[in-house]
Parts: sequence; structure tokens; C-alpha cells
Amino acid sequence: MNTQRNATLTVDGKTVELPVYSGSIGPDVIDIRQLYAKTGMFTFDPGFVSTAACKSEITYIDGDAGVLLYRGYPIEQLAHHCDFLEVAYLILRGELPNAEQKQEFDTLVKRHTMVHEQLIRFYTGFRRDAHPMAVLVGVVGALSAFYHDAMDISDQYHRDVSAFRLIAKMPTIVAMAYKYGRGEPFMYPRNDLTYTANFMHMMFATPCEKYEPNPVLVRALDRIFILHADHEQNASTSTVRLAGSSGANPFACISSGIACLWGPAHGGANEACLNMLEEIGDVSRVGEYIRRAKDKNDPFKLMGFGHRVYKNFDPRAKLMRETCHEVLNELGLHDDRLFKLAIQLEKIALEDDYFVEKKLYPNVDFYSGIVQRALGIPTQLFTGIFALARTVGWIAQWNEMIGDPEQKIGRPRQLFTGAQKRDVPPMARR
Ligand code: SDX
Repeated sequence: MNTQRNATLTVDGKTVELPVYSGSIGPDVIDIRQLYAKTGMFTFDPGFVSTAACKSEITYIDGDAGVLLYRGYPIEQLAHHCDFLEVAYLILRGELPNAEQKQEFDTLVKRHTMVHEQLIRFYTGFRRDAHPMAVLVGVVGALSAFYHDAMDISDQYHRDVSAFRLIAKMPTIVAMAYKYGRGEPFMYPRNDLTYTANFMHMMFATPCEKYEPNPVLVRALDRIFILHADHEQNASTSTVRLAGSSGANPFACISSGIACLWGPAHGGANEACLNMLEEIGDVSRVGEYIRRAKDKNDPFKLMGFGHRVYKNFDPRAKLMRETCHEVLNELGLHDDRLFKLAIQLEKIALEDDYFVEKKLYPNVDFYSGIVQRALGIPTQLFTGIFALARTVGWIAQWNEMIGDPEQKIGRPRQLFTGAQKRDVPPMARR
């Protein structure tokens, strides 16, 4: 970061100079760390609409241009030319792996896909109909009880071990949540399969018959993982960073990220979007729901539309729609009624003045539910798939923060609007 100039703030007759820093690309920032000391005032930014909470080298988003870069590489190129573990390596270590590094990383991850056998007992504590995200929050948090051997977060090697343990075990944990909900036996990982093919094996195979994942569907799911891998300082990543800033162990931090992602305004939107499409049911009812979405007195929002940062289009949504086409064609579902409804809904919304004026475009969650449903993934597990993929982004952002010598515990302040100091009245004294 370099200081090119200062911002001058004058308030109540006082003038303060605040340094302005530039990054490699994107908006400059005004460093307000001395603001309170110099003015006795805080900034006020609920929802952090105009606040940079950290510096990072991992992911860059240009919301107006619809650009998403992982370590400088455009998401479109990564989605077409790489597999998920190559992208995971890139996000974690900053460069794409060469052939030898890829081989080593794939093997490292494969050799850590099994979970401790006792972890199975955590699942039996849940009702069979528990929401998978509730299971993931609990089981991932519980991993901290199994890995005391690598919990010195000041040690880079320990951070690396936790990172590949989490990346390797999330598919197993998510698949086990699915199997548990169906009352089917857990399937052990197969090291002869690729990362994503192995996940599909653990999800859809049974001990009773041979199962070979469809390579077209494996590729589609691998691309879905790539599209969800990281996304700058979104709500769940910021949750992981804030939890990590206290020195909490990485498993507890990732568990907090999963909890935050579950919300329908965030990662839970893919599940909510598919439920919404099911509720709309037919293109003849789209107008009714567009009207509801525009009605300030109606809390209904068009799930899968809008984004805090993307005000033009979410590049992931375009790639997800392309993947949707591929999967539905492969499965002979090109007439899928929900996909046709989604296409119609997108078209109508994008022509509506309200959506154009408020720059509400389909986001990554709009099509992901349809393609996941076609892959045989149950609606309630969509956000679990999102969490599986986002684990690499969360752990990379956590690692970047812990490795930053300047990092401090996150502790925002407030604008207090409650009761001023007052005494307890005599009759209330015991
Ligand atoms: C993800 O941050 C990330 O990077 C997240 C994510 C990632 O990869 O980590 O990209 C993943 O979370 C994608 C977003 C998934 N959520 C949804 O699809 C849920 C529906 N979308 C909305 O809830 C909303 O658009 C948000 C939460 C995504 C963004 O909310 P903001 O930035 O706080 O914007 P806002 O709610 O203030 O909306 C601005 C205006 C409002 O109207 P006014 O108050 O200005 O009159 O647009 C309206 C909103 O009412 N609006 C919508 C709408 N989204 C916003 N109106 C109808 N339907 C919608 N979907």
C-alpha cells in the first residue's frame, strides 16, 4: 500500500489529514485508524457498504464491470481451463501449480479425505430430518476436538495442515450429512477418483452396487465448486476473519463461516431460490411475484437476484447458466420446467424498470439450485455444497489474516442511541 495523498476532513472546526492508500487495482482507501484519536468520532457504516476491513491479495471483484479474479486470473478462464483442486492451490498459495505441484497437492488432499471414525457418532446425535447446515456447523466445529496436534496458529506449518485437512474432509462430511439424512450407510472415500468424482461417489454410491460418476456431471460439479471458491470479504468470509482475529482455532472459525453462509440473504439463497421457483410454479405467475418483489410492504425478495457488489452482472451467474444447459442436455432435461421458468423469470425481471433502476441482476445462486437439483443434490444440501467449495476461500483468507503482522482483534464500535445514565428508583431496590 502506498500513500499518495491525504484526505482532509473538517468537522466542528477541527481539520484532520487522513492518509489515502492505493492498492494494485480497485478503489483507493482512506485510512481512518487515527480518526477517533484525532476527532473523538467514529465512522458509521452498518453493513460495511463503504468499508475496507482488511488488505488482501486473494480475490478481486469489480462490481460494475462484472469482473472476478482469483489471484489475478479471470473466473471465466479458471472455470474453463482448471479443475477445483488447481484453483484451491492457486487461492491458497498464490500461483497455479505446475504438474509436479498439482500431483503432490492432489495426493496430499486424497490422503486426508477420511474422518476420524469416532466423528460418525456426532451424526447419530442429530434427528434424521435435521437441516444439513445444522449438521455441518456442529461437525466441522467438532473437528477442533480431534486435531490438537496442529492448533498453534502462529505456526505456518500448522495452518497449512489445518487447511488441507479441511479441504480434504469437507466433501466427506457433507456427503455423510446427506447419507445420514437418507438413512443410508456412509461411503468411504475412494482414492482412485478425483476430488469431485470422489464426492459424487460418497454421495450417490451404495455398498450394494458399482457406481461410476458420469464425467460430464463431475466436470459440471467441479465447475460449481470453482465458481463458489472465494469471493472477497463477503459476509461469511468476514465472519471467519472476525472469529479468527481472536485467535480461535481454524475449525471453529470455518464453522462460524458455515453458520453465516446458511442465511437466505447469503449462501442460503440457492435453496431459497429453488423453493421460490417451485412456489411460482408457472411462467403465468411470474408477474405476481415481480410485483411482490417491488412492493415495499411485502418482505418478499426475488431470491437469486441482486448483489452488494455486482451492479451489472455476476460473471458466475453466466457461467452457471452455461453449466445448467450442459447438465440438462446431458441428462435429456432441456425441457426442465424450472429451468424454462428461470429463463423466463430472468428475462422478465431484466426488462423491468425496478430491477434495471436498482441494478438487480441474477447472482451465482440463481441457476445453481437448478443444476444441483438436476445432479440429484437435494435442495436442503445446496448451501452445504456452497460451504464445501467456499472452505478453501475461508481458510485462505483466515491464513492471510493470521499471517499479517499488522492484524489485530476485530472490535467495531457503535452509535449509541439507548437510555442515558439513570439511577435505579428506590422501590425497585431489593
Ligand atoms: C451471495 O457478498 C457476496 O459476495 C455474497 C456472495 C458470495 O459469493 O459470497 O456473492 C453469495 O450471497 C449472493 C447473494 C444471494 N442472495 C440473494 O439472492 C437474496 C436476494 N438478494 C437480496 O437479499 C439482496 O440483493 C442482497 C442481500 C444480495 C444484497 O443486498 P444489499 O446490497 O444490502 O442491497 P439492498 O438490500 O439494500 O437492496 C438495494 C435495493 C433495496 O431497495 P430500496 O431499499 O433501495 O428501495 O434493491 C432492493 C432492496 O429492497 N432489492 C431487491 C432485491 N435485492 C435488493 N428487491 C427485490 N428482490 C431482490 N432480490
